[in-house]
Amino acid sequence: MTTEKTSKAEFSEMYEEDADYCQKVLTTPSGTFLFLDTKRKGSHGGGYCMERQRWLSAQLNRAGNGPVYLFMHHPPFDTGLPAMDRIGLENAGQFAEALAGRNIRHLFFGHLHRPISGSWNGIPFTTIKSTNHQVAFDTKTFETLYCNLETPSYGLVLIDKTRVVTHSHDFLDISDNIDTGDPTDYIAWGAA
Ligand SMILES: [Fe+2]
Repeated sequence: MTTEKTSKAEFSEMYEEDADYCQKVLTTPSGTFLFLDTKRKGSHGGGYCMERQRWLSAQLNRAGNGPVYLFMHHPPFDTGLPAMDRIGLENAGQFAEALAGRNIRHLFFGHLHRPISGSWNGIPFTTIKSTNHQVAFDTKTFETLYCNLETPSYGLVLIDKTRVVTHSHDFLDISDNIDTGDPTDYIAWGAA
């Protein structure tokens, strides 16, 4: 069984020096990537305490006007799936304040085990299905969480100075590819 303690040992390279939280900065030609630890201790839910908020503010100050990409587990807003929203991010208001006026290009998160995209306070966001089980598409039930075995997927994100493109691949889908020919051939596609 993996505990919070063994996780820290296994992922030690993701911890900044002696920090208690698994947060990291990656500086790339496309901007600053910030990986945030949003776990609330002893819970499936999320939280972002003052210690982590201070770290985030310091990184955002360091990034200045440059583009920033955020990667985190819990979404900092309700998604319309009530059972999951019960275990969302505590302190979401403070978190939103920390991001206000910053050049946040995209927010990626997990937790939902469903493909969801949109924007929050003007920040585009993406989450995709899990590589394991999925959360049911249930916008009504509050008291219990339904999950299922819809096909899993993994994502591929292409980022450069002008684009953020997210792909999602259902890698266990067993349907064969069908060769439909040269996609630029207007006639062959039945337009004659
Ligand atoms: Fe989660």
